[in-house]
Amino acid sequence: MQIKVKPHPDFAEIFQVVLEDGAKRLATKNFALGRNVYGERLLRVGGVEYRVWDAFRSKLAGAILKGLKTVPFAAGHRVLYLGAASGTTPSHISDIVGEEGQVYCVEFAQRSLRDLVTNVVAYRTNMSPFLADARMPQKYSMFISGKMDELYCDIAQPEQAKVLADNADVFLKEGGWVLLAVKSQSIDVSKAPAEVYQMEAKVLKNRGFHVVQVVDLEPYDIAHAMIVAQR
Ligand SMILES: C[S@@+](CC[C@H](N)C(=O)[O-])C[C@H]1O[C@@H](n2cnc3c(N)ncnc32)[C@H](O)[C@@H]1O
Repeated sequence: MQIKVKPHPDFAEIFQVVLEDGAKRLATKNFALGRNVYGERLLRVGGVEYRVWDAFRSKLAGAILKGLKTVPFAAGHRVLYLGAASGTTPSHISDIVGEEGQVYCVEFAQRSLRDLVTNVVAYRTNMSPFLADARMPQKYSMFISGKMDELYCDIAQPEQAKVLADNADVFLKEGGWVLLAVKSQSIDVSKAPAEVYQMEAKVLKNRGFHVVQVVDLEPYDIAHAMIVAQR
């Protein structure tokens, strides 16, 4: 069977792939030709290179497959990414925002940031790395001018929603979107995950966000959800 690629019916710059064995995957167009980031497969179809987007490695891909209704990232957008690690999901957002966009990546683990810089940012002019603690946006605000179209937060820490809202106060444009990957066990192991998701959603509501969706990420990530909100 031949590999088939078609644009996602709802989201620009995201593609649906059917592989040789009939398996269905998501993909993005590779901004850094010939290079993969986390061992993902590269596909060349119709003269275009795509990167297969693994939903078991990227919570954003998992959320899309689990019925995320809003993917606000688009060509030319500026995105602040908190908890960039070594670049798995940030690299796919870099593919989506393309040449005219920019992904500002905040990560406080030196080793992860080094891998991000060496393996990913070096080949992608639309990514800017910051070795910084997302709990202190004032420490990196002087390096980032202008407002962001979206914020993405995946820091697997207590007070995830608060950290996101604090950054939104500084960086998010009016009407901008945020996506928060919640790891319930980082917040309260004694509570049911669904209860923790609601607690984090409430923090965002109290900070002026309109929460539009909470997507449970199982089976891709156990006890994780993606909260989508707009302000
Ligand atoms: C689950 S991983 C992120 C995975 C990444 N978002 C992806 O999908 O490719 C969480 C990352 O957040 C980072 N992190 C946690 N707390 C942070 C903080 N306060 N400031 C910056 N980075 C933080 C960790 O070092 C870790 O690399």
